[in-house]
Amino acid sequence: METGTGSESYTLSVVDSYEEMSRQAADAVQEVLERVPDAAITLPTGETPAGMYQELVRRQEAGALDLHRSQIFLLDEYFGTSQQDEASLTRWLFEVFLIPAKIPERNIHLIPSVAADPELAAAEYEEELKAGGGLELAVVGLGRNGHVAFNEPGSEPDSRTRLLDLTEESRDQSSAYWEGEAEIPEQAITMGLGTILEARRIVLIASGAGKAGIVRRSLEDAPSLNVPGSWLPSVGERLHVILDTDAASELANRP
Ligand code: PGA
Repeated sequence: METGTGSESYTLSVVDSYEEMSRQAADAVQEVLERVPDAAITLPTGETPAGMYQELVRRQEAGALDLHRSQIFLLDEYFGTSQQDEASLTRWLFEVFLIPAKIPERNIHLIPSVAADPELAAAEYEEELKAGGGLELAVVGLGRNGHVAFNEPGSEPDSRTRLLDLTEESRDQSSAYWEGEAEIPEQAITMGLGTILEARRIVLIASGAGKAGIVRRSLEDAPSLNVPGSWLPSVGERLHVILDTDAASELANRP
């Protein structure tokens, strides 16, 4: 494992394997929950974080970690999608983490994906988060087009939780995840890029050569609306980036 400090003073860890990335991401969650057991945290869905969830559940079952008091805020969801739908990100998080980790329902804050008035519901979600003390931790992945949660290219760095149109690229990435068998809606509700950037700790995880290009653009190019991930380094030492060697392979400034 190599660890160093990136040019914007965030912490960059480049590790040998997906498993080690997952362990370090779990370490970051554990560190926050040991300090603030009832912390408001937001967690990603997708291929990248699956190992982190397994590790967190394993640690809790071994008595090394207590996840029960954490306040989990959902990061994003397809609009019009409920937990009954196959392609629901919320459903995925329940199956992979929230149920195995036995997180009490009252500590789970669902993003309003079926609201009749999404603008109002999104504002209420932001209020709920504020009432929970604001995000202590945001763990995020990176889409191949640079999206963070479903903040697609063009998202403002101060954007809040909102309904937005998905790009074809993101819909294709999602469709590939469900091997083309699930219908991917055209819109999503996402926690805002600004909401995420305000978290007191942000952990970015990425794995595999397919992410190397967008990781480089996010970490080494100037912040740009075209690449939502490129705003992450601007939070400085609040950011910890954990990459496996393949995802880090195009970085010029690797530690
Ligand atoms: P992935 O998705 O972990 O399935 O690659 C990451 C993302 O799109 O945020």
